Amino acid sequence: MSDVLVCVRDYELRARQILPKSVFDYYFSGADEQETLRDNVAAFKRWCFYPRVLRDVSTVDLSTTVLGQRVSLPICVSATAMQRMAHPDGETATARACLSSGTGMMLSSWSTSSIEEVCEAAPGGVRWLQLYIYKDRALTQSLVRRAEDAGYKGIFITVDTPYLGRRRDDVRNRFKLPSHLRMANFESPDLAFSKKEGYGEDSGLAVYVTQAIDAAVRWQDIGWLKTLTKLPVVVKGVLTAEDAKEALKYGVDGILVSNHGARQLDGVPATIDALPEVVAAVGGQVEVFMDGGVRMGSDVLKALALGAKAVFIGRPVLWALACQGEKGVSDVLEMLREELHLALALTGCRSLKEVNRSLLRRPELISRI
Ligand SMILES: Cc1cc2nc3c(=O)[nH]c(=O)nc-3n(C[C@H](O)[C@H](O)[C@H](O)COP(=O)(O)O)c2cc1C
Repeated sequence: MSDVLVCVRDYELRARQILPKSVFDYYFSGADEQETLRDNVAAFKRWCFYPRVLRDVSTVDLSTTVLGQRVSLPICVSATAMQRMAHPDGETATARACLSSGTGMMLSSWSTSSIEEVCEAAPGGVRWLQLYIYKDRALTQSLVRRAEDAGYKGIFITVDTPYLGRRRDDVRNRFKLPSHLRMANFESPDLAFSKKEGYGEDSGLAVYVTQAIDAAVRWQDIGWLKTLTKLPVVVKGVLTAEDAKEALKYGVDGILVSNHGARQLDGVPATIDALPEVVAAVGGQVEVFMDGGVRMGSDVLKALALGAKAVFIGRPVLWALACQGEKGVSDVLEMLREELHLALALTGCRSLKEVNRSLLRRPELISRI
């Protein structure tokens, strides 16, 4: 393999060589047969660009806003747990890279650097906290309070994980955190996923979720969360028009169309395929985002053309961290920026305002008409 890494796939292949097997497997895995994992990437290819030409694309502006915060490109970083398994600097490296690229970072509740450490590592960065609703509501509330105090700009509440999806390699590997690491937002070993025993013959994380996360969560709990904070609240993990409308009823400030990187229920649609119906149901009332399978600038452009305000990336950041820490994440963000810039220019768009549905068609559907 060449030493020069020129696309996200190169970083993935290199990360596979570098990371311990159980760590790579945890990061890479999708649920069950991994049909949706493959489709998240493949589905982008079913859309084709129909570019416009001769439109003076000598300058192209990629900047936009996400929940009122200005970002220099419409590509933000999604929550991925336990980043210090990829690199000793973990989430603090990601935060610094996001700050230098002028984009936003969603920090996982299950981070191996705490809410406050991440804030100190990259003061002034745009950050949101991803939240799981714990059985212990006081604990859940304290995470929100800490995010507010540390200057986070919003809460992304994950709604697709009442139980952890079945990721076969994690079961085979009896996945646990390496003993020198812990989920840094929690004190007790039980909640910090750092117990030595007690995860049985299963994926340790699946056992953790069953023990700690509230599987009884309902839409009313989104209402409860809204009463706790003035920060914008986004639901992460909506795939249908019906749930998008429900989310609006409970006053959410945004919807992230996500299938959790295909790690929860196998057999759900690729997120790029779920996006249009959610966008239609929301009708512009709140911002709609997507994540899942975004690997190239042209994927980002397709998601924006189908109505996403911005996209989020998960695994590409982990591969970048594994390869080169903060520099790797910066390089991947800048690579995606260049790819997106080129895709916009070559479709005749000078800014994100000019991106719309007319850029895309699905040839296999058109030929049947
Ligand atoms: C290793 C890994 C850990 C993740 N941890 C979390 C998490 O803690 N909370 C959460 O809401 N989503 C989590 N996700 C899902 C991501 O936020 C995101 O939805 C997904 O990774 C996007 O797909 P992509 O990896 O194809 O870009 C995780 C995903 C991966 C791959």
